Amino acid sequence: MNLDFERIMPSLPFILEGIPMTLQVVAAAALLGFVLGTILSLLKISRIKPLNWLADFYTSIFRGTPLVLQLMLIYFGSPQVFGVQIEAYTAAFLSFGLNSAAYISEIIRGGILAVDKGQQEAALALGVPYRSMMTNIILPQALKNILPALMNEFISLTKESAVVTVIGLSDIMRRSYIVGGETYKFFEPILFAGLIYYVMVMILTLIGKAIERRMRRSD
Ligand code: ARG
Repeated sequence: MNLDFERIMPSLPFILEGIPMTLQVVAAAALLGFVLGTILSLLKISRIKPLNWLADFYTSIFRGTPLVLQLMLIYFGSPQVFGVQIEAYTAAFLSFGLNSAAYISEIIRGGILAVDKGQQEAALALGVPYRSMMTNIILPQALKNILPALMNEFISLTKESAVVTVIGLSDIMRRSYIVGGETYKFFEPILFAGLIYYVMVMILTLIGKAIERRMRRSD
């Protein structure tokens, strides 16, 4: 194998400059996914049937079609649906956030169901209102248990963000591809992009572990 990094050396900063774009998409999508996912999970465990159906339908749509397709529908469909062409960045974080919410809602639902039923019975017997029982008793315990699954989701999100390349967003992936086109060497820049993604995921993993340790200390 012959690797010629010298040729692409001057272009490495150009690829590195894609990191903020990738991080912005991932952070905004993670936030949207988490908030919407939490709401959806509560709808799913609600006793009001139509709310269950609504949330299940949402998940079936966003989990049942490819993420790259959702991204393209939102980006290319926006002029026909909303009458305006939304920006590539907006389309990216929207589609990733909406997609992630479908997965996160299932993770959180599982976490809530895994909290011992006695907790809910005790809270309700003591007259704790449903809302405060959820936010102060059930959700915090659920969150602790699902942390590894949530970290998985955020890691997926980070790597999947590479597909924003298809709508022209200048992220790490697209930049490495551009460098390939300019230098006629694709292997090295894309290998370099792989290294960046790997380091990002390793950092996320460490952060996740640290949060987990911190949460376990309160036991
Ligand atoms: N490639 C898969 C898809 O297109 C990955 C989706 C993963 N999304 C997620 N939020 N975990 O559907």
